[in-house]
Amino acid sequence: MNTQQFIPHSLQRKLEIFSCTWKTPSNIALVKYWGKTAPQIPKNASISFTLSKSHTITTINFTPKDTSATEEIDFELFFEGKKKEDFKPKIAKFFDRIQEYCPYLFSYNMMISSENSFPHSSGIASSASGMSAIAMCLMSLERSLSNTEISDEFVNKKASFLARLGSGSASRSIEGPLVVWGNHLAIEGSSDLFGVPFPYKVHEVFNNYQDAILLVDKGEKQVSSTVGHDLMHNHPFATQRFQQANENLATITDILQQGDIDLFINLVESEALSLHAMMLTSSPYFILMKPNTLEIINAIWRFRKDTGSKLCFTLDAGANVHVLYPEHESENVLQFIDNELSMFCQKNHYICDSVGLGAVKL
Ligand code: PMV
Repeated sequence: MNTQQFIPHSLQRKLEIFSCTWKTPSNIALVKYWGKTAPQIPKNASISFTLSKSHTITTINFTPKDTSATEEIDFELFFEGKKKEDFKPKIAKFFDRIQEYCPYLFSYNMMISSENSFPHSSGIASSASGMSAIAMCLMSLERSLSNTEISDEFVNKKASFLARLGSGSASRSIEGPLVVWGNHLAIEGSSDLFGVPFPYKVHEVFNNYQDAILLVDKGEKQVSSTVGHDLMHNHPFATQRFQQANENLATITDILQQGDIDLFINLVESEALSLHAMMLTSSPYFILMKPNTLEIINAIWRFRKDTGSKLCFTLDAGANVHVLYPEHESENVLQFIDNELSMFCQKNHYICDSVGLGAVKL
């Protein structure tokens, strides 16, 4: 695998104060990534919708250090205006992993300030949008330091490569509306190292697809995704799962082009339940769904049967339910959510999101 392409060669020497701000989205996987090998290489390919409203905004102020102090990567972290010491180890580990590809990190003091559009502890994973925002800021700095022209395409590719080293799914939070991460024969240009935009024409039924995120449980996850990925080593069904996911990626590649929404529903719901089945059958086993997660799934199935609606659900590594549906069904689906699903959410809280186009410089 060619990681050499991400080591910068022609950077200028004179360093100046630099600052930039990026807004980057969260994403929701349709075919899930669960299981990896070091360094953040996925065991199967995955594909996600990039979201639009659920995002992180991050500003980094880079101040050049005096040259005597370049042994360490120095940064301060503020989250929603407050210093956040407990987030620091994860970011420090991320910087450690990417130092070879971003040697200029040693030359600056960084002040990182972040905020999320979604409420704190909403159970929405912030690592994808958080890591991708930092990666885009670093690429803005790299561009400003480079003596040669860097294309937008390379910026996105390297940002995805860097973000992946912070959190696997973050590699899919740079571009949109659909991103594939992981080497797969059906996807031209796909790679284990970075996400690529879905390279084929998508049927119009999937334009501006909607995602209502039902916040069933806003608490801390009982089992982190790092632990969950690790439990796929020696998992009795791991090999079959990785094969199933890769087959599903080939199938969804056709579905997205042909616009067969019934097949889409079937595949997406099966993927969500397969992900959770891996959790139920690992050792130690665990359950991230809550009783209300199941109430919502059953109500969705009932509504679909009764009305012919094309809504479906998917799940992340948590209890919240993502309700996916075509834009033209918005009115009916939102009424259904208000009347029959919001009662299963904490404080009746849900977020109406839709598919988006990726990172934006502010
Ligand atoms: O990026 P991580 O390591 O937090 O893993 C995310 C895994 C899932 O969200 C459960 C699935 C996915 O593909 O996004």
